[in-house]
Amino acid sequence: MTTATQTGKKEMVRDMFNGIAPRYDFLNHVLSVGIDILWRKKAIRQIAHLKPQIMLDVATGTGDFALEALSLKPKQIIGIDISEGMLDLGRIKVKNRKVDDCIQLLVGDSEDMPFADNNFDAITVGFGVRNFADINKGLHEMHRVLKPKGMLVVLEFSKPKTFPIKQVYQFYFSFILPLVGRLISKHSTAYTYLPDSVEKFPEGQTFLEMMKKNGFVEVRQIPLTFGIASLYLGNK
Ligand SMILES: C[S@@+](CC[C@H](N)C(=O)[O-])C[C@H]1O[C@@H](n2cnc3c(N)ncnc32)[C@H](O)[C@@H]1O
Repeated sequence: MTTATQTGKKEMVRDMFNGIAPRYDFLNHVLSVGIDILWRKKAIRQIAHLKPQIMLDVATGTGDFALEALSLKPKQIIGIDISEGMLDLGRIKVKNRKVDDCIQLLVGDSEDMPFADNNFDAITVGFGVRNFADINKGLHEMHRVLKPKGMLVVLEFSKPKTFPIKQVYQFYFSFILPLVGRLISKHSTAYTYLPDSVEKFPEGQTFLEMMKKNGFVEVRQIPLTFGIASLYLGNK
C-alpha cells in the first residue's frame, strides 16, 4: 500500500534531483574526489563473470552506472529514474558517446517497474536505494524482474566505524559537504538531505536481511574505502 508519506518522499526526491541535475555530476566527482568512479568500476567487476546481456540500472540518474556497464559489452542496458532532469543529462551523455543503440534511459519508478518478471541478467543501483520511498518495495521489484541466477549489485554510502575515519567522515559529511553542495548546486536542502539519508539508511547486516526477506540469496557486503561506501550483492 502506498502511504501519503511515501508519495511525499518520492515527490520530494524527484523535485530535488530535478533541481540539482545540472550540477550533479560535477558535485558527485568533486565531493567524492573521484572515488565514486572507482566504486562503480568495482561494482561492475562483481558481475563480469555472468557476461550479462540484458542489464537494468535502477535510479540511473545521469546514467554513469549504465555507461560503466558498457565495459561488459551487453546487448542492452536500460536505465530508469523518476527524475526527468537527471535522465535528460544522461541522454546527452549517451548520445555523445554514440551508445544510444545499447543504452535506453526511461522514466520509471523502481518501486513499480514496467517490466515483465525474470527479464534482466543483472541489475545495478548506485546511490539510489537510500532514496526510495519504500526500500522493501524496491527490492521486491528488483528481485521480480531479475532472471533466475541473475545478480543485483547495490552501491550505497555507509558509515565508517573506526577512529579516525569515522570522525573525519562525520565532520566532512555534516559540515563540508552541505556547505560546498549548497554553494555549487544553489539548492538549499539537497546536500543536507544527503547526510540525513545516509544516517537513516539501514546499512550493513540490516540491509542484507532486507535483501534476503525479498528473495535474494548468497547476499554479501563488500566495504569500500574504509567503509565510506559498500557494495551489497545478491543472487536470485
Ligand atoms: C544520488 S542519484 C544516483 C544516480 C546514479 N545512479 C549514480 O550512480 O550517480 C539517485 C537517483 O535516484 C533516483 N530515484 C530516487 N527514487 C527513485 C525511484 N523510486 N525510482 C527510480 N529512481 C529513483 C533519483 O531521481 C536520482 O536520480
